[in-house]
Amino acid sequence: MDNLSVDHLTGINNLTKADIELILKTAETFKQVINRPIKKVPSLRDITIANLFFENSTRTRLSFELAEKRLSADVVNFSAANSSVKKGETLIDTTNNILSMKVDMVVMRHPNPGAAKFLSERVNARVINAGDGTHEHPTQALLDAFSIREQLGTLEGKKVVIVGDITHSRVALSNIYCLQKMGAEVMVCGPTTLIPKYIAELGVKVEHNLRKALEWCDVANMLRIQLERQDIKYFPSLREYSMLFGLDKKLLDSLDKRIIIMHPGPINRGVEITSDVADSDQSIILQQVENGVAVRMACIYLLASKIER
Ligand code: CP
Repeated sequence: MDNLSVDHLTGINNLTKADIELILKTAETFKQVINRPIKKVPSLRDITIANLFFENSTRTRLSFELAEKRLSADVVNFSAANSSVKKGETLIDTTNNILSMKVDMVVMRHPNPGAAKFLSERVNARVINAGDGTHEHPTQALLDAFSIREQLGTLEGKKVVIVGDITHSRVALSNIYCLQKMGAEVMVCGPTTLIPKYIAELGVKVEHNLRKALEWCDVANMLRIQLERQDIKYFPSLREYSMLFGLDKKLLDSLDKRIIIMHPGPINRGVEITSDVADSDQSIILQQVENGVAVRMACIYLLASKIER
């Protein structure tokens, strides 16, 4: 069996192209499994996985839990909001207490960039980053890559624009790493204040005019404005943002080609994307969510194969 070059999935930055290929290929098999009448395989019957969520989540949390259950793993869920973190317990103490219960793998979402790597260096379990602050969201980028490949057949040479709040987006950074490793061209589009100065060093194009960005791309990934991470005002109003960077049906239909619309969710309908675009037949937003389960099954399965049993 082919193996990943890493023992933990803390980010896309430290994956090779071969790792990404292996995850996407394995996910294709699991997508067939989850579309069968019996959607479950016994692969991880001897594995226990803890989902540690120190930040809110709908899609990622449910998707990981479903992926783990489809692989027949035992699953425990932890949410910081109703835990002893509220009494001052540290991340390491919380994790070590959970690991004492013989947990093999930890899936963690945390508000601090680097939290997953920090944990992976200190605990005797495989760690998967389910989003660490403004840093990386590797499984989102992998499911996005899988979804684009499913639509276009390949990522090689495809043009993807990521629109919106690039500065505060872990989805943007992980997507940039993943798409470039797989041979796609990446552009970011948004207000100057929401595009970090270092971004050009990553080899991405920068565009501040949404129409020009859409005319260039094959795929537009529309991001949410992350008001909860913004400590200052980056633009005058949501209304103004929406007028300049929001995608509506009129703009979409005025393009002389058919582009694919993506969004990692949660959507703020009427801000970065209107309902008629989100629900249009060019949108693959719900396919992304469906593919998330197969891609997470692949990540868990491949990392679990590195656990000594
Ligand atoms: N895309 C994503 O990470 O969504 P959640 O925050 O709901 O998990």
